[in-house]
Amino acid sequence: MTGKPSAGSFGTSVKELWHALLLIVPITFGWIGFLVKNVNLPKEKKSELFWDMNAKNMDRFAQNEGLKKFELRRGEKLKKYLKGTDGVLDYGCGTGTMAIQCAGMVKEIKGIDFASGMIEAAQRKVAESGIDNARFMQATIFDERLEKGSFDVVPAWGILHLVDDRPRVILRIHELLKPGGLMISATECLGEKRSSITSLLSLLMKIGIFPISLKFFTVTELEDLVTHADLRIIGMEIFADNPVSCLIAAQKR
Ligand SMILES: C[S@@+](CC[C@H](N)C(=O)[O-])C[C@H]1O[C@@H](n2cnc3c(N)ncnc32)[C@H](O)[C@@H]1O
Repeated sequence: MTGKPSAGSFGTSVKELWHALLLIVPITFGWIGFLVKNVNLPKEKKSELFWDMNAKNMDRFAQNEGLKKFELRRGEKLKKYLKGTDGVLDYGCGTGTMAIQCAGMVKEIKGIDFASGMIEAAQRKVAESGIDNARFMQATIFDERLEKGSFDVVPAWGILHLVDDRPRVILRIHELLKPGGLMISATECLGEKRSSITSLLSLLMKIGIFPISLKFFTVTELEDLVTHADLRIIGMEIFADNPVSCLIAAQKR
């Protein structure tokens, strides 16, 4: 087998790029319109409203062929760590797709997200699916309604590269887990590999056009934070390389 892309795979890539552009372009224009109207809002609030505005696009975006394959592979990896007796906290649950997929494999699953639009979409989807062990609430990880030492598994799925105070967030996850409980993170480690896209995003972030404050760190930096929070790494895998995406399963002692 040679590393040469075939005409078929080239066609698929073009199709995937086209699907991505169909979403990225309207999202960006919608966001620029929003910025013009709300120029004085604090950065944190802008980020929350960005996710809120895009809640309706998330499931459409997930139809992108490349993303679908990626999500499927990532989901399979999470399922290996779940048990029927688990109480799960899905941190940054988005529109609840993953929580709904995993609900049948665990005792109960609670999804939290700071964007109300995501939670409304998740609640709508769970009601339509007839699943009765998945609940969603608008919250950050520091919300006091979340009980310390009460979760068996906390998936942090596509979120640790978005939050401001990662060390505090990981310590909080540790606090919410039961002894022996697991944090399973799937995180884009954007500090591993600079590409033209990450450079462009950094520039757009600096001039305030790109609303999400992406964090750039390496796999080793993430590993260090996890171990400093007294979580023991029991599984680790790089499952995508552009951007580098890393799965870490870590256990509370
Ligand atoms: C990239 S999406 C990932 C969604 C879902 N976990 C998945 O993998 O499909 C990130 C999600 O995290 C939420 N989010 C970002 N920052 C957050 C924060 N500080 N607290 C809670 N949710 C947050 C966003 O609203 C968004 O739904």
